[in-house]
Amino acid sequence: MKVTVVGAGNVGATCADVLASREIANEIILLDIKDGFAEGKALDIWQSAPINLYDSRTIGSTNDYTMTKDSDVVVITSGLPRKPGMSRDDLIATNAGIVKTVTENVIKYSPNAIIVVVSNPLDVMTYCAYLNAKTDSKKVFGMAGVLDTARYRAFLATELNVSPKDIQAVLMGGHGDTMVPLPRYTTVAGIPVTELIAEDKLNEIIERTKFGGGEIVKLLGTSAWYAPGAAAAQMVEAIVRDQKRIFPVCAWLTGEYGLKDIYLGVPVVLGKNGIERIIELDLNDAEKALLSESAEAVKGVMEVLDNMNATA
Ligand code: LAC
Repeated sequence: MKVTVVGAGNVGATCADVLASREIANEIILLDIKDGFAEGKALDIWQSAPINLYDSRTIGSTNDYTMTKDSDVVVITSGLPRKPGMSRDDLIATNAGIVKTVTENVIKYSPNAIIVVVSNPLDVMTYCAYLNAKTDSKKVFGMAGVLDTARYRAFLATELNVSPKDIQAVLMGGHGDTMVPLPRYTTVAGIPVTELIAEDKLNEIIERTKFGGGEIVKLLGTSAWYAPGAAAAQMVEAIVRDQKRIFPVCAWLTGEYGLKDIYLGVPVVLGKNGIERIIELDLNDAEKALLSESAEAVKGVMEVLDNMNATA
């Protein structure tokens, strides 16, 4: 299996490191536009192989897409990260141009690749990749829900003082402040979370989750990378190992949940064909209202992209 990670910044390099150390692919191409940067990171990752005892090979490339030829999966992390005070949407003008160029190059050398987008603003950059890849929407989707649920699960694990392994959760909507964690679909080793935690505490955790990315931006002056990189790698693993795992993924909707022509986070089954199917939950009215509010927010940013394209 060959996996390319475009962008050797913090998220891309972390993703490549997890892909290599967990032997998710035997060949990993790490590509970046900055001269020598991806080669340096790839060499450093490869030199950890004799210590961590694995044989997956990470190879760096300065913008030479011929090296990405025939990749099975491509992860796109390119673009600027957030600075304090910025919303993810503030990145659209810069990152849309970058994601367009990257996607065109990726598809040129790997027309059958499955593309996992990580660049922000996530839902709209996934849409941007889809428009430029001109491929099946089941093969172009975004990483957000795996990260956002991981944050939610980590906060719950701390609060309940239990293993994060035992916390299962579904979270829907866009990768922004309108994301929709779903307590009704959150369990701790099969126990509904509402039986273990007071409602006000749970609401606090839900609010913290919605702003979980911003919390880290405030602390670090740039956005997170360990959890985002690992989340993207986990999605790649589900694809290359055809695991049929159920993850919340930013997917193109064609009527599911009463929504269409929009990229939005929903639970899906991930396997060798990419999105094997979208799972439609029977949401109650309050949940539906939150999801449609999130869809409106994402649509608004998608329109900014459409208008940029119309005037380009
Ligand atoms: C975050 C960025 C990667 O949520 O969107 O940390």
